[in-house]
Formats: sequence, structure tokens, C-alpha cells
Amino acid sequence: MSHVVPQIFRYESIASTNSTLKERALQGAQEGTVIVAKQQTLGRGRGERQWHSPAGGLYLSLLLTPNFTIRPTDLALLAGAVMTQTVKSFFPSSLSVGVKWPNDCLIQGKKVGGVLCETIGEPTRLAIIVGVGININVPSSELKAFDSRPFKATSFLEVSQGKSFELDKVLESFLKFFFKAYEVYQLEGFRFIQTLWEKECLFIGKKIELKETGLSLGKNINSASIQGTFLGIDESGALVLSTSQGERKSFVTGEITCCWS
Ligand code: BTN
Repeated sequence: MSHVVPQIFRYESIASTNSTLKERALQGAQEGTVIVAKQQTLGRGRGERQWHSPAGGLYLSLLLTPNFTIRPTDLALLAGAVMTQTVKSFFPSSLSVGVKWPNDCLIQGKKVGGVLCETIGEPTRLAIIVGVGININVPSSELKAFDSRPFKATSFLEVSQGKSFELDKVLESFLKFFFKAYEVYQLEGFRFIQTLWEKECLFIGKKIELKETGLSLGKNINSASIQGTFLGIDESGALVLSTSQGERKSFVTGEITCCWS
């Protein structure tokens, strides 16, 4: 089992922590390298979207170079669950905080953070870049840039009505939770991630709408929306729905666009 020790490199402003870490990985950076920036000028999100990254947010990327066969999607789910644990640890338990498949974190139904996992190298010798963005001291005026998404955006600052948080405390907490969980995953396998992820998810048993997406020539294409009861994730990390016809269906891609409580 590899015990990863984080080594943090800090930047005032860079294009994207994921892009910088990718370059460093290609130059032989060590597992555990963490890049943190106070702001990003070209922050990237899932599905080729931009990730608006003004000062006040936490933008980090960490490097894993596992010496065992790994599914990068496992780590993306793990990062989403761990980010949710981290966010929870800063707020009272009365607040609803949970992970939305596959790896967004929501507070009171609004998105506060997301994960972009990228890989380089051969399937047998992968370097995995786990990129995490959390809106911490981001004022409400800056959150409008996210509002075209199905779930509106929020920040720690907005939720706590103006109280600001130490970014380093959130970073420290995320890294502590992440590396501890990564060790347990190496011992117990995906079942551990599945249990943790489902524990941190607020949608299980609820009716949701999923917009199915697919890839065509490397670009996201949208297709139909489907509604059903969210049952959880299966052993591959796919979202599992029970349709109104009582059929059990798994989805590897797609986006939850609505949830009924
Ligand atoms: C999403 O929900 O679309 C994923 C957002 C991931 C954003 C983070 S911020 C740090 C890292 N660097 C990037 O360019 N993106 C990720």
C-alpha cells in the first residue's frame, strides 16, 4: 500500500492548477504533489465547461501515480465524497450538505464545489490528476457566472451570511480526509468508495431527472432526459435508476438536472 505524503506548491494566479500539475507530472513530479492557486484565469470544469475561479475560492490539484491497477473514475467519486465530508465539517449538521452524482457537492441544493479528474500515461502506469474547486470566500456577485447550470451556485461565504473561512484550514481538512480514504480504498477496494459515496449522497430513494450525455468526436452531446428513483451507484460507479416502469437502469454518463424531495 502506498502512503502518500502531500507536498504543496502555491501560486497567486495561474491558468489552471490541473494544467500546471499535468506539465509537472510529465516532467516527473512525485506522487503527492499538490498545486494550489489563489485564483485561476482558465479554470476548467467537467464537460469542457469553464470553472469560474475568482480570488476567495479554493483551487487545488493533487497527483497520484498508483503502482496498482486503478479506475480513474473511482478516484473522481472518492474526491466528490471526501469534498462533501470536508464541507460538512465546517457547518452545523442541520444544514443539508451532500454529493450529487458523480462528484458535485451541494449545500442546501446549490453547488459549492466540483471535481475534474484527468489522466496521463499508459493504462498500466497512469498518473491521475484530481482537481477540486470549492467556492469558499466567493461573494454572491461572483456566483452569477455559474447560474446557467441546472443547479445554482453558492459559497461558504453566502451560506454563512458573510463569515469568511481560512482557505488553508479547508485545504488541510480535504487532504487529510482524502489521503486517509485513499489508504482504506487500497485495502478494501471499490466497495469502500461505494459505501462512503452513498453515505454522503442526499438523493438516494428520491425521484430525479437525468439528462443523458454522450461523447461524439470528443465533444459532449446531449440526448433524452429520463426520470426515475435514484437507487445509488453500482460496482462500476454508474448511477442506478429505477424507472417508472420498474426497470433498473445504469448510466455511465449524464447529469442530474432535477431532484424532487
Ligand atoms: C466541475 O464541477 O465542473 C469540476 C470543477 C473542477 C474545478 C477545479 S479548480 C482546480 C482544478 N483546476 C481546474 O482547472 N479545474 C479543477
